[in-house]
Amino acid sequence: MKKVILTGDRPTGKLHLGHFVGSLKNRVELQNSGEYNSYIMIADMQALTDNAKNPAKVRENVLEVALDYLAVGIDPAKSTIFIQSQIPALSELTMYYMNLVSLSRVLRNPTVKTEISQKGWDKSKELLWDSPLLVENSLDYKGTPAGFAMYPISQAADITAFKANVVPVGEDQLPVIEITHEVVRVFNKIYGKTLIEPEAVVPNDVKSRRLPGIDGNAKMSKSLGNGIYLSDDYETLKKKVMSMYTDPDHIHVSDRGKIEGNVVFTYLDVFAPDQAKVAELKEQYQRGGLGDVVVKKYLLEVLDEILSLIRKKRAELAKNPAAIYDMLREGSKKANIVAAQTLHEVRKAIGVEYFES
Ligand code: TRP
Repeated sequence: MKKVILTGDRPTGKLHLGHFVGSLKNRVELQNSGEYNSYIMIADMQALTDNAKNPAKVRENVLEVALDYLAVGIDPAKSTIFIQSQIPALSELTMYYMNLVSLSRVLRNPTVKTEISQKGWDKSKELLWDSPLLVENSLDYKGTPAGFAMYPISQAADITAFKANVVPVGEDQLPVIEITHEVVRVFNKIYGKTLIEPEAVVPNDVKSRRLPGIDGNAKMSKSLGNGIYLSDDYETLKKKVMSMYTDPDHIHVSDRGKIEGNVVFTYLDVFAPDQAKVAELKEQYQRGGLGDVVVKKYLLEVLDEILSLIRKKRAELAKNPAAIYDMLREGSKKANIVAAQTLHEVRKAIGVEYFES
């Protein structure tokens, strides 16, 4: 029997180069190896955990993310692409799993904590809903939507519903997947062996795990506005590459330049097919006598080589959104059958299938 892959993305924006090297490329390779049964989920319910007031954004980005998937080579004939909210079993599993993980365990999760503080919910006086209960609450996390704090548990439902063995994700997701392990272990211990413990997979190459932003920030991210998107046109790509952070002390062409922290070289390490040429450029740059513009032009060439194909395919697909929704409907139908089967087993294990016999 083939191993199962499950992974996905929150549809809160278009996907960028960080997603591409951090996870999408990996998924396409695994898909094409033919050794796996792949499920790829657009996590719209998870996106709503911090976008409840902005459902239109989530809805629009379901289509955008689907276009990004197809454009990079995820193939609906080989991978099942589906929408999380269309699989009711996932919500029901989440309800059962929520009882297996303590509140403090969820709130102690480093990824969740970082996200909560990035969003300012820990300090925020602003309340999500006008609830007198929340006014009385003196917890640190009081501005955090309850659903957001629980997202790692719903992610455990996503993964276990498909009995996934392998979960290719970005590095920041590792602590979240830890909670899946905990849910599986505790569930199987209490109710009998029902669920499968998955393995999270991040790229082998350390530099691909966390691609820096074009501004030199350690992470490319939508909220920081420092990303290169798979859908960026050539002019946008050019502008971004030309404005990239290099070595601030490298002012004259004749100056000696630094490689470390120089985003242009980090990208060349990750993307350039000719690494011998990159090594040569690095040497020359460090010696002095190589201008930023020359290196940036080479990077532009390298990136456009990759992105022009993706961009072209994406634009073609975007002409027919109805076909994309058809594909998503088919994928969701298939995913539903699998998830419903697992839910049935889970209900039986817990003993809440009352009318079966
Ligand atoms: N949390 C993931 C992200 O932000 C998206 C996601 C939701 C996911 N459910 C998942 C990833 C299940 C892997 C498995 O990127």
